[in-house]
Amino acid sequence: MHACANIKEDRGLKIQKMITEQDLKVLINAEDVQHAIAQMGQQLNDLYKNEELYVISVLKGSVMFTVDLVKHLKMPLNMNFIRLSSYGSGFKSTGKVNAVDISLPDLNNKNVLIVEDIIDTGHTAKFLIDFMNLNFKTKSLKFCSLLDKRETRKVDIQPDFYCFEIGNQFIVGYGLDYDGFYRNLPYIGYLEM
Ligand code: IMP
Ligand code: MG
Repeated sequence: MHACANIKEDRGLKIQKMITEQDLKVLINAEDVQHAIAQMGQQLNDLYKNEELYVISVLKGSVMFTVDLVKHLKMPLNMNFIRLSSYGSGFKSTGKVNAVDISLPDLNNKNVLIVEDIIDTGHTAKFLIDFMNLNFKTKSLKFCSLLDKRETRKVDIQPDFYCFEIGNQFIVGYGLDYDGFYRNLPYIGYLEM
């Protein structure tokens, strides 16, 4: 499996490097990922008890996290998927959020939980929260994220629940991609360059 990256454009050099799975180092192993998700599931069960919950999963990055998280949830649950994109094919967030597909049921007076893979600059999270508040009067609106990359935040926003805080590094795996690749990895890795 390879993806092709221009990794040294900033120095005026254009070195094409093939990133392979051998270049990946494990940041969070699969077992720790699953353990943290089970704990978050427990917290959510305690919070919502037996109340109906509308989960909004943000594709594509949150797909792995969402399917593993909801298996722990015990309340009546309505699963929804929306598609946004912000990264393009580089390592840095563009800051612009594109709504690729946001078709949702009526969320007025519902408990809504947005499920994201990672909060980086916070632009996506802000976009989603503003979108929800503009379109619906929800009963409650919470935001959970597998990862919280706090150092790179540009918008003052925090997840209500998160599994891991990570530093300023580009990571892949468990739903997160580089140029569409690596989403299938069961662990979270970073690129050694
Ligand atoms: P934000 O809008 O800058 O907070 O970025 C949100 C989106 O950027 C996330 O939902 C991810 O899909 C993507 N993203 C942020 N950091 C990374 C990373 O390190 N690797 C892969 N994707 C990332
Ligand atoms: Mg995402």
